[in-house]
Amino acid sequence: MWKRLTRILRCPACRGPLLLFVFREDHPTIAAEHLDLARSKGLLDDDFSKRVEAGLLACDACRTGYPVVRGLPVLVLYPTAAHTQFLAEFRDELSTLKASYPFPDRAPEPGERFVMASFSREWGDYRYDGVLWKTSYQDQEATFMREIGEAPSGATTFLEVGCGLGVMTSLAHRHFQVDAVGVDLSLASLQASQHYRENPFLHFVQASAFHLPFARRTFDMVYSRGVLHHPPKPWPAPRSRALHHPRRRPSCSLRLPWATSRSIASNAGVIPASSATNSAAPSTRRAIASPRATRTGMNRAKSPAGF
Ligand SMILES: C[S@@+](CC[C@H](N)C(=O)[O-])C[C@H]1O[C@@H](n2cnc3c(N)ncnc32)[C@H](O)[C@@H]1O
Ligand SMILES: [Zn+2]
Repeated sequence: MWKRLTRILRCPACRGPLLLFVFREDHPTIAAEHLDLARSKGLLDDDFSKRVEAGLLACDACRTGYPVVRGLPVLVLYPTAAHTQFLAEFRDELSTLKASYPFPDRAPEPGERFVMASFSREWGDYRYDGVLWKTSYQDQEATFMREIGEAPSGATTFLEVGCGLGVMTSLAHRHFQVDAVGVDLSLASLQASQHYRENPFLHFVQASAFHLPFARRTFDMVYSRGVLHHPPKPWPAPRSRALHHPRRRPSCSLRLPWATSRSIASNAGVIPASSATNSAAPSTRRAIASPRATRTGMNRAKSPAGF
């Protein structure tokens, strides 16, 4: 993970800020175009080109720790193989910390283990060969741009929920020059993190859509495609006005408190935020985004340049 991502990460258990303890760091060579972009956005500080390969994200508020494993922040709330591996490898480093931060030990939400296992298996040997879901990257890109439309003016941040291999997340950066963050519960997030590791504007996190680990009002655009029809049934957070699956309403919904604004796009086009609760066209492919949507009227947590 790029070190500066820490600024927008929050504890998925209690939403407290996270401290970063770095155990292993890398400084990949950054392409000139990315350095130029960072300079133009005023983002070129000491942390900009630092990548954390191993470390601990620690919440002082609830005394919980989250490992960064092979460059990927693992911000899930239940134990996984990555936690076991991390403990074995970094026992000495962990013992030097002044406080102890046990890993989270909650039960997974219904369906989370299934999703994690099945998609980790499905994409374990994907090679970024120009075809995704039997569709060329060019066609994927055309669909993505049709769904997203234009970025809101001055947009600097994008979130994809259920990003899989990160192909759409990378398109968001390419088209809108934003910091693009992809979240996925499966190890596709690790694939994405490694494949795009030289791009300092692409960030991947292993986390669940039910417990997103971000500061509120961080993102200018939020997008999700092909995720809501996966288990569990029903999805939690039923009070949301932000996103409803048309065929499972009202039990299927997501809260989007980390977006600065919202509206829904489906394959049929963008649906204004005001009608987001009940008028989306049925589709198994769902996209949510915030192009041209009105601000919520609340102050944004991030700086105008990004994070
Ligand atoms: C059909 S794939 C779509 C991937 C990507 N959006 C695309 O269009 O290529 C569904 C993805 O959603 C992820 N997913 C399902 N439930 C999730 C959850 N609760 N939190 C985070 N990711 C989830 C899966 O791991 C999988 O990568
Ligand atoms: Zn916490």
